[in-house]
Amino acid sequence: MFHMGWFLSNGFGVYGWNQQWSGNVAADVAQPGLFVDMATSLERAGFDYMMLEDSSVIPDIYGGNLEFATRKGTVRHDPMPLVPLLAAATSRIGIIATAATTFYPPFLAARLFNTLDHLSNGRVGINIVTASPHAAAQNYGLEKHIEHDLRYEMADEWMDLVTALWESWDADAVVMDEAAGVFADHTKVRRVDFEGRFYKSRGPLNTVPSPQRKPVICQAGGSPAGREVAAKHADTIIAAVVGVEAMKEYRDDISRRMIAHGRKPSDAKILFLVVPTFGDTDQEAHDRLDRQRAAAAADLEGALAGMSYTSGHDFSKFDLDGPFPDLTGKVNGHQSTYADYAKAGEGKTLREVASTRSVVESIELVGTPDTVAVQMKEAMEYAGGDGFLIAKPVTRRNITEIADGLAPALRRRGLIRSSYTYEHFRDNLLEY
Ligand SMILES: Cc1cc2nc3c(=O)[nH]c(=O)nc-3n(C[C@H](O)[C@H](O)[C@H](O)COP(=O)(O)O)c2cc1C
Repeated sequence: MFHMGWFLSNGFGVYGWNQQWSGNVAADVAQPGLFVDMATSLERAGFDYMMLEDSSVIPDIYGGNLEFATRKGTVRHDPMPLVPLLAAATSRIGIIATAATTFYPPFLAARLFNTLDHLSNGRVGINIVTASPHAAAQNYGLEKHIEHDLRYEMADEWMDLVTALWESWDADAVVMDEAAGVFADHTKVRRVDFEGRFYKSRGPLNTVPSPQRKPVICQAGGSPAGREVAAKHADTIIAAVVGVEAMKEYRDDISRRMIAHGRKPSDAKILFLVVPTFGDTDQEAHDRLDRQRAAAAADLEGALAGMSYTSGHDFSKFDLDGPFPDLTGKVNGHQSTYADYAKAGEGKTLREVASTRSVVESIELVGTPDTVAVQMKEAMEYAGGDGFLIAKPVTRRNITEIADGLAPALRRRGLIRSSYTYEHFRDNLLEY
């Protein structure tokens, strides 16, 4: 059996507001309804989790101004207040929200996620990212963003500190002995007095231990430094590597790194990013994919803006018919994402890459729900990962295709769960 997640790639934001199936976005923007519908649908489908992406910036690298991003509706509301609303509508699915270790003070994050874990009855997770680009860092008062690998050293220490804070209360510290008038046993609550290279905190948390004590940790590092943090800390790792060989290499590499950290490879579930295209027949699905590809190829601007954001360099300045720009050693944003573009760009012009790479997906999935289920089974058997992360735009049409088309097809083959065994997120995630 494999695990399933959904990556909400625009976080608590806007998904295709002017597209054919995007619904009533004018009324829905910044409202929880669509996401609540999604949570209940994915729980019906037996998903392990939904993962809310986040960033704190309106990108202005492409073209050097805000025009493209504001025209396209590149906004993000804070995902944290949405979490309890999703939890209240569901009872088993895990809800992961993204927090940038570079900007979130560890005490604030530890306390927030402890509280969210209570409010969700043990179903919350954190996607730890080091964030990008410079403008995001400037929103938090920094001169510019911190160097890529140093950010991961900070993230590692950040994790040590938030973990120490979650453990500043023993699991059995709350006694609520009404007769003796003792709420908690003070010998089981302690300061952490953490003093690291980057962070300091006194502790303890002024909250009681939450159902999971420590929320599920999610990570998406692709570079060596990112993979190292993921292998050391994560319960689930999400990867956008391309092709079954790369998937296998990624799983093997993470397993090796986990063993070096004294962990079992089965302690972290790796989900690979996919963007399946469905139809009532295989032919219809292929026709739909062709139409989507043609639309993506026509949207050069969108591709260039995406490359600008992940690399931190303005791609509007490069010659479209020149070779794909070599920025090796000059990327402080999402290094491995740029490396994937560069690999695809070998021997090609920028125009060719921009018109072919609309989405990064691990394997191409296209056909009826039954066809796609078989494709997923075969890829997983070969690559040895733990499951898939759907990354389609959040529309009710896409949600229905997955929850009521793909999930039943997977379940008929015994590939996904038919019900949840446990109450808490981590227990279900690590069950198999
Ligand atoms: C599925 C997926 C989800 C991601 N979500 C976020 C996010 O919410 N916020 C963010 O700043 N970065 C996000 N990233 C970027 C990663 O944190 C990371 O920077 C990227 O994978 C490149 O790896 P590297 O930093 O090790 O070079 C995501 C990446 C992937 C593959």
